[in-house]
Amino acid sequence: MSRLRGRFEGEVDELMRRVSSSLPADLDMAEDDVEGSVAHVAVLAAAGLLAEHEADVLREGLQRIRTELADGAWKPDPAIHEDIHMAVEARLVELVGEPGRRLHTARSRNDQVATDVRLWLRRRLREVDLAAAGLLAAVLDRVESDGRTLMPGYTHLQRGQPVLLGHHLLAHAWALSRDRERLAGALERVNRCPLGAGALAGTPHPIDRQLAADLLAFPALVENAMDAVSARDHLQEAAAACAILMANLSRMAEELVLWSTAEIDLVRLSDRHSTGSSIMPQKRNPDGAELVRGKAGRVFGALQALLVLVKGLPLAYNRDLQEEREPLQDLLRQTFDSLRLMTAMWRDLEVRRDRFEATLRGDFALATELADALVRRGVPFRDAHEGVARMVRWCEEQGGDLTLLDHGRGTVFHPSLPSDLGELLDPHAAVARRTSRGGTCWPEVERQVELLRQTLPA
Ligand code: ARG
Repeated sequence: MSRLRGRFEGEVDELMRRVSSSLPADLDMAEDDVEGSVAHVAVLAAAGLLAEHEADVLREGLQRIRTELADGAWKPDPAIHEDIHMAVEARLVELVGEPGRRLHTARSRNDQVATDVRLWLRRRLREVDLAAAGLLAAVLDRVESDGRTLMPGYTHLQRGQPVLLGHHLLAHAWALSRDRERLAGALERVNRCPLGAGALAGTPHPIDRQLAADLLAFPALVENAMDAVSARDHLQEAAAACAILMANLSRMAEELVLWSTAEIDLVRLSDRHSTGSSIMPQKRNPDGAELVRGKAGRVFGALQALLVLVKGLPLAYNRDLQEEREPLQDLLRQTFDSLRLMTAMWRDLEVRRDRFEATLRGDFALATELADALVRRGVPFRDAHEGVARMVRWCEEQGGDLTLLDHGRGTVFHPSLPSDLGELLDPHAAVARRTSRGGTCWPEVERQVELLRQTLPA
């Protein structure tokens, strides 16, 4: 008779067994399950629930299981075990006999799975954060190497005002740094120990939950035993942080797709990150960026799954919660891979500096400069705006650009317009004038790079 079937007649139905098994997804947190048990052994020993020699035997057995998992000498079998908790315990009993049957004192699979997932997620969140820091560093390096390049800043995907490429990239960099703050916030709430909650009500045995938390390096406990086994908001929060991060990445990805078109042609992705077509021999497709954009949708779906899974679920543990694992694992993997791919694409791509500046020639991105020049000569901004709008219209009708207004020709439209527009129509000068805090001038770009570098891990 299988374990946990004592009060039933016969075995569980085969389909039920398959649907019920969480083992395939649990395997990713097998080492966490063992680590949780090692801490639990210490707690039981400290409470006098295990003799020292029994605790030693259990520790050795668990250590052996750790090695077996690592080298593949033992593989939990989904045909036999419902989940990783049952599998590890059964293996321990096989290895050490009777003391193994004492391990489940004062705990439940409910606090076990809650602990395992938190340990697993804590590790993954740290990896994702490191990957995010890696992308941030790559973007900051780009700002330093290519950031003085001029480009049109867009609104509505229409040219607005000239900016430095560094200024544009920093907008992405700041978003990434907030993503890292969100990951850190999520980690803080993930990083609390539920072990010792038992099934939902605590335990009559004199266990020291603080000891478990200390041994597992959790800086805090989940205080309430029922909350400890039923809460999943920390998963949702971690997933939300990843989803928002992916939303930011997808915007960056979209720009890479756009900027690689023949029409815009501002960047060239490396060969390593471009793919060909099965029919059109000339193609050079930005699939890496497109996949990041696509994976964002997949991650949003996983967040949605985690929210809906818990919606309306009564306290405390319900088996539905087992369904958390796959979306959670998938979304962390996709987020991690996307960050690393994006980092590699930024490190390897070529910025076509000449093209950036060429895009600014012959357009009206400097119209605001003329309006601001009028303001400096005492004209109310609204009037200046109207005057320059008429100038733009006239230039357009002549089939030319703002240079038509130079050498005093513009004063017809507004007497306060300087007759020499040289400085005003120079995009480099326009950018250099934008010295307000967070503006696009180079010293402000440099200042922000410095601020963001301070947030990077050493
Ligand atoms: N495999 C279960 C899960 O992943 C472990 C907890 C089982 N608890 C229970 N009461 N059936 O959620």
